[in-house]
Formats: sequence, C-alpha cells, structure tokens
Amino acid sequence: MRARCHLIILVAAMLLTGCKVSPPNRVERYVVHEVKHHITVGNKSAQNPIPLTTENLADGKEAFGHYCTVCHGLDGQGTGVPFADQMSPPLPSLASPEVQSYTDGQLKWIVENGIAPSGMPASKGTLNDDEMWSIVLFLRHLPPAGSLGEPEVYSH
Ligand code: HEC
Repeated sequence: MRARCHLIILVAAMLLTGCKVSPPNRVERYVVHEVKHHITVGNKSAQNPIPLTTENLADGKEAFGHYCTVCHGLDGQGTGVPFADQMSPPLPSLASPEVQSYTDGQLKWIVENGIAPSGMPASKGTLNDDEMWSIVLFLRHLPPAGSLGEPEVYSH
C-alpha cells in the first residue's frame, strides 16, 4: 500500500512536469521500474519449491536454452543476440540488479505471464511449473557473461 501511495505522488508529479521533458527520462524509467516491481508483477511472496541441486540447475539451464536464448543469449546477458540493444525497451541483462531484485516468485510470474506490451512472451501453456521454477534457479546462478558462447541460431 505504501508503495502505491508513493507511486500516485510520483505519477502526479510526472503529469505536472511531463510536458516539458522528452521521454524516456529518468523519472519515467523510475516509475516504470516501481510499477513493475510493486504492482504489475505479482506472485511476490511465492517461494521456489525446487531445491538448488546440480541436476535442477542443469534442467533450468536446458529449459532456458530452449525457450529464452533467442532473445536473452545462452548466458541471459544478451551475448551474441544481434538485436539485443535495438529493442524497445532494450533487452535487460538478466544478471542486472534491476532484474535480480525481483523475488523468485516474481521471476516465475514474469516467465509465466510475460511483460506486455514488450516482446517478452508468456510461457504459460508451453512450460510447466517445474520447468519455470528451474529456470528461476538458473536465473539466480547465471554464468559469467560470454562464457557459454553465442546461441547457435545466430552463428550458422
Ligand atoms: C522474443 C524475445 C524474448 C524471449 C524468447 C524471452 N524474452 Fe525475456 N524479455 C524480452 C524483452 C523484450 C524483455 C524486456 C521487457 C521489459 O523490460 O518490459 C524481457 C525481459 C525479461 C526479464 C526481466 C523483466 C523486467 O521487468 O526487467 C526476465 C526475468 C526475462 N525476460 C526472462 C525470460 C525467460 C526466463 C525467458 C524464457 C522462458 C524469456 N525471458 C524469453 C524478450 C524475450
């Protein structure tokens, strides 16, 4: 609730000053960040039921490799994805503090529902719960940027 009041004040401030500034400015980016982290992206308190084991992490890496690398790269940091910095909004590095500050439950929610209206697709119906949670494990243990090479689809 506090986050919401905070936001209402911010949005009001934006409306008052909005005409003078051209997007996307820092305030707008901050508001988008706050809205996503506190309101849009649900499932905040859900815990990852999949324990961290070598096998589960490998499952997550594999599922990520099938469904996410065309846009996020094998390392989740956009390595080798030719259009990564041309998308709007730009593809975030999944290792960035911005993304890592979501809770596990929120990361699962993002995978499940996608982020409208950007290019981030929903996996509901494609991936089952276990696969999504194992991907969340992988997101928490991403390898160093560039260490996995480039997605095959772009190197052939
Ligand atoms: C077709 C391209 C595409 C695919 C495939 C894709 N994503 Fe994304 N993803 C995006 C874009 C674009 C964004 C930026 C969305 C935004 O900031 O609004 C994004 C953002 C994210 C974010 C951060 C969201 C935020 O609010 O900062 C996470 C986490 C994520 N993707 C995980 C995944 C996972 C896991 C998969 C595979 C199941 C996946 N993505 C598949 C394009 C894609």
